[in-house]
Amino acid sequence: MTDHSRQIEDFGKNDDFWLFGYGSLIWKPPPHFDQRVPGYIEGYVRRFWQASEDHRGTPEAPGRVATLIDRAHWDTLTDHHGATERVWGAAYHIPMPYVAAVREYLDIREINGYSIQFTPFVPSSTSTSPTSDPIPKTINTLVYIGLPSNPQFLGPQDPDALARHILKSRGPSGENREYLFQLEEALGALGNESGDAHVSDLVRRCREIEAEGGGEEGASLEAFHKIGSTDEQEEVEK
Ligand code: BEZ
Repeated sequence: MTDHSRQIEDFGKNDDFWLFGYGSLIWKPPPHFDQRVPGYIEGYVRRFWQASEDHRGTPEAPGRVATLIDRAHWDTLTDHHGATERVWGAAYHIPMPYVAAVREYLDIREINGYSIQFTPFVPSSTSTSPTSDPIPKTINTLVYIGLPSNPQFLGPQDPDALARHILKSRGPSGENREYLFQLEEALGALGNESGDAHVSDLVRRCREIEAEGGGEEGASLEAFHKIGSTDEQEEVEK
């Protein structure tokens, strides 16, 4: 067993299983959590560079969802958007009796190209503890990342083409634009400085394109209702 596999297996054994969400987990929490703490991580950049074949797109027409890029790797790339120092999101504490069930749930999420990493999370200064224990200054969190080596990782995208692609994509979990708009709204609710310029720029572009009457050429939602949008598919979205 590698050190990384051992770390994954041992994580949470001291009732310290914390999961960091930077995508749909922010507004669609995992099951069984007993604490949700807004805050941020550093050393990563959030980008809509992960193809989604199972939720906001299909294998034939993949949509685009968020992943995190290691900052040192991002520095080697040519990107249209600048990096923010902090990636805001929400950390969830899973109580010991539920760790196995949540891990199973998360491992299903991992299938479409995401891998596990660990990273320190800084709770926002406005976070309050629901128990008598004070909230620690940093929390070691588990995070799912679509690494550049995974087949769904797309690399740098032209923002206008990306916005247009999001507008025309949809999958079993719904419209791709809804994922983008919900992410922006959920980020705004986390704190005063919790926005993400990459996400907001894509939202602005999508709204402009829609106002001009564009972005309507995607497949109809009815087509996906025929495929079947089950609760399970909805539940395991990235
Ligand atoms: C999330 O942060 O929402 C997330 C990202 C990748 C896989 C699962 C969840």
